[in-house]
Amino acid sequence: MSRNQPPHPNQPAHGNLPVLASAPGKLILCGEHAVVYNRPAIAVPLNGVSAHVSIESNRPGTGITFDTPNLRRRWLQAAAPDDPLSELVGRTLAHFGITHDPAIKITINSTIPIASGMGSGAAVATALVRALAAYAKVNLSSAEISAMVYASEQRFHGTPSGIDNTVVAFEQPIWFQRHPQAPTGETPPPAIEPITIAAPLALVIGDTGVRSATKLPVGEVRKRYQAEPEHYTSLMDSIALIVHQARLILATGDWVALGTLLTSNHALLQQIGVSSRPLDQLVHAALAAGALGAKLSGAGWGGIMLALVTPATNPSVIKALQKAGATRVLEATVAPIS
Ligand code: PMV
Repeated sequence: MSRNQPPHPNQPAHGNLPVLASAPGKLILCGEHAVVYNRPAIAVPLNGVSAHVSIESNRPGTGITFDTPNLRRRWLQAAAPDDPLSELVGRTLAHFGITHDPAIKITINSTIPIASGMGSGAAVATALVRALAAYAKVNLSSAEISAMVYASEQRFHGTPSGIDNTVVAFEQPIWFQRHPQAPTGETPPPAIEPITIAAPLALVIGDTGVRSATKLPVGEVRKRYQAEPEHYTSLMDSIALIVHQARLILATGDWVALGTLLTSNHALLQQIGVSSRPLDQLVHAALAAGALGAKLSGAGWGGIMLALVTPATNPSVIKALQKAGATRVLEATVAPIS
């Protein structure tokens, strides 16, 4: 639209279009699954992969259109209002007081593999909310963005703990713990704390290439927990102990001790039934190649594992993961934080 023309009734004078926003992937360092049962977990942003959203003006009268070149999918929001992203856009615009459909084209690109444990869904949703906030010229805090993404994940992904949306929206390593529901029925907000990391943490990530929706292993663990509550309470408590120790060790920089904890966390995840043969093979290969520790990361049954490495073992671990069948190997360094 040229500057001299009045805005079309469908095109509010909100944005200086186009607007762009992005969000990183994430890695759960330890505590996945137990975090669903109010135990703590530690997660870090993964900046090597990210989701990007752009909002441009559309032809007047077109309404809101989506284009996801990675997934080769395009749709009109009005034609698919129940789609999770359509719904998130509708709810976010309504939250900003925009109740009509502006003529905008939303393009979503992501380098984060879906259903792999790297937080693809949370990153796309976070980038989308950030882009819509920029379009509507609304300032949102990280906590507000996280809450909006969490509401969307709750609607479409079962019983998420909230760790993914939190670490992605805050973009910093976090300690995350949900609190149990109060007798009044209210759920208090989770504890979200920054953590200290004494020295650079070098990780190698191996992708099994097996895509597994988070809610499947989460649902299976819930069934098993209900069938054997004492056994599963004890497994979740053991994972919580590891996470508490990991937090202390992260602050000291003793990566040999941290590696041992991560490998113990993997053994517990095997016991709760969320590992798989490809994940175990990659974990085994990384350890045999000299990694200080290795474990699956995320929901399991597929997706990724991570290995803690040193500069000396980094190349051999990468090679070993490739040889053991990893479809993609990424390197990530978590910077020290005091
Ligand atoms: O696979 P992801 O990245 O969605 O991680 C899931 C983490 C779980 O603890 C298994 C579930 C959750 O909601 O915290």
